Amino acid sequence: MPEREPLDVLEAIHSTPARRYLGSEPIPDAVLRELLDAAIRGPTGGNSQIWGWVIVRDADRKARIAEWWKAAFDATYGRADAARLERGGRVRLGAFDEVVEADTGLDAAGLRSVAYLAEHLAEVPVIVAPVLTGVLGGNESTRLGLLYGGFIFGAVQNLALAARAHGIGAPLTTFGTGPELDRMLELPEGATACAIVPLGYPVRGRFSQPKRMPLERVVHEERWGATGEGGD
Ligand SMILES: Cc1cc2nc3c(=O)[nH]c(=O)nc-3n(C[C@H](O)[C@H](O)[C@H](O)COP(=O)(O)O)c2cc1C
Repeated sequence: MPEREPLDVLEAIHSTPARRYLGSEPIPDAVLRELLDAAIRGPTGGNSQIWGWVIVRDADRKARIAEWWKAAFDATYGRADAARLERGGRVRLGAFDEVVEADTGLDAAGLRSVAYLAEHLAEVPVIVAPVLTGVLGGNESTRLGLLYGGFIFGAVQNLALAARAHGIGAPLTTFGTGPELDRMLELPEGATACAIVPLGYPVRGRFSQPKRMPLERVVHEERWGATGEGGD
């Protein structure tokens, strides 16, 4: 088993943000194997395990993935007003070019980290593509499993937490996924890559607590609206 410091599970959960400043230092095979062995302990509907995990280490393949990822980044965040973000705004999903004064969305530091990954993705030692099989054109339950990522994102979070235990960043991303990626990975009919998870040792930043809205704003007592924050 690879050497690592013990890490309490709650401490890991509270210190696993999306680390996007990743370097090129190789990840030992035994460590990679341990991360994937943690990932596949995650749940799937009916324990169907309709998945596969493609490991990409080849430089040319990583470069192509990086191109698609960058194109998706540009299309999504390219119009964000960086100056307004620096003054305390956020850029929010669903209104990518809109900068909002709010405590949800990417702040300037978050956007910088995504922009960094857009430029450096090809340099990471490993990219993992979590694949769901038999979902394109499949029956209703597997179609929904794909739509909501419910069949695989729990396992992807396991991967991130196991990576955290080894000091490795493993941000969940969906930029760069699509038919071109599926074709390059030579996936079977009906299978699709649901994410692109770069793995690498961080070169900047730290394993800090992910910033979220306060619990009181998002937890509801018995019914929607009865929160600890002025709800009735
Ligand atoms: C379904 C899904 C798709 C995501 N896609 C991307 C992506 O394409 N690129 C990226 O940089 N981050 C992506 N993320 C990561 C989110 O941006 C990140 O979880 C969020 O900003 C919170 O970051 P934090 O945990 O570091 O606070 C995705 C997250 C989820 C759940």
